[in-house]
Amino acid sequence: MWSKRDDMVVHDKEPFNAEPPPGALAGRPLTPVEAFYSRNHGSFPDLAPATWQLRVDGLVDRGLVLSLADLHQRFSPRTEVATLVCAGNRRAELMAVRDIPGQVPWGPATISTAEWTGVSLADVLAAAGPAPGAAHVAFLAPDISPAVDQPYGSSIPLTKACSGEVLLAWEMNGEPLPPVHGGPVRVVVPGYIGARSVKWVQQVTVQAEPSDNYFQAEDYRLLPPDAEPAPGRGISLGPLVLTSAILSPDDGSRVAAGPTEVAGYALAGEGRSIARVDVSLDGGRTWVQAAVEDPPSPWAWQLWRTTVVLPAGPAEITARAWDDTGATQPDSPASVWNPSGYDNTSRPCIRLDVR
Ligand code: MTE
Repeated sequence: MWSKRDDMVVHDKEPFNAEPPPGALAGRPLTPVEAFYSRNHGSFPDLAPATWQLRVDGLVDRGLVLSLADLHQRFSPRTEVATLVCAGNRRAELMAVRDIPGQVPWGPATISTAEWTGVSLADVLAAAGPAPGAAHVAFLAPDISPAVDQPYGSSIPLTKACSGEVLLAWEMNGEPLPPVHGGPVRVVVPGYIGARSVKWVQQVTVQAEPSDNYFQAEDYRLLPPDAEPAPGRGISLGPLVLTSAILSPDDGSRVAAGPTEVAGYALAGEGRSIARVDVSLDGGRTWVQAAVEDPPSPWAWQLWRTTVVLPAGPAEITARAWDDTGATQPDSPASVWNPSGYDNTSRPCIRLDVR
């Protein structure tokens, strides 16, 4: 059984789409399962661990059919702390610039971090033996999205699939993976948008091209502002982009005048780390530096905090993260608006009523 916090922000009951109140993530390197966001395109399939099977096929020397017991017995277990973040995280701020009909208005908490245990996809692929011409690894699950009448699937490049950190995971924070997060077994692709971490995975296909599944070929693509979604159009989203958000205080809340702690997360993406987070009380004219924690793993967010002194009246707090290549965040949601509302990596900004 699984349950979520009573105060989850439930955007849709069916398919279930929910994020925690931002403050529930603040100051916690690992997210408890009850607060972990949940993003679904269809209903959860009912898969019994005892009968679940994974088919590995396509451009391989030896096709495999593996049970959960086979995964445990034939491969070494691996544990990885990794942050999952939906490409639609912070879409609500884009929708405030210009509406994005039919999309979930996600806030800044469509992101969570867990300790995942399973086996390396690389070890399973090595057992199957990728054949000449192999370049991508596609994942397929049985849940059907009513919007497109297709089961959920996606793919990642073979080089990423063979990199060791990509897991076929059966445990989350030391407990059996709950059905809401893809149990009995899901893919976890650290450093990539959450859409590539396919839940309830049943098929892994090694192939020459990326998956032609709707959620790879048409959705989760960054379109120019004036374009309509179409297969193959736009930039296919994969590796994560530098981002940050303010988790506490709550945007729009009333706080007491005086010292106030401001806390949030920042995430740099594969091979990079957060070098600095700045906070401004005057719309970006002057900045103070926040304290940034070390990440719990190379694949996880970095939490930050600082204390600012707020005078009574309306207040606006802006943050910006910098990575270790010197890159920083775009200045406004308007500057990154796109028709599907993905990758709002602009500087976060909250407004407070200070009394
Ligand atoms: N896998 C399946 N089978 N079906 C889905 O709808 N949603 C994807 C991904 N894997 C999805 C899926 C998306 S868009 C995200 S952001 C993550 O799962 C969310 O994982 P979570 O619900 O465990 O937080």
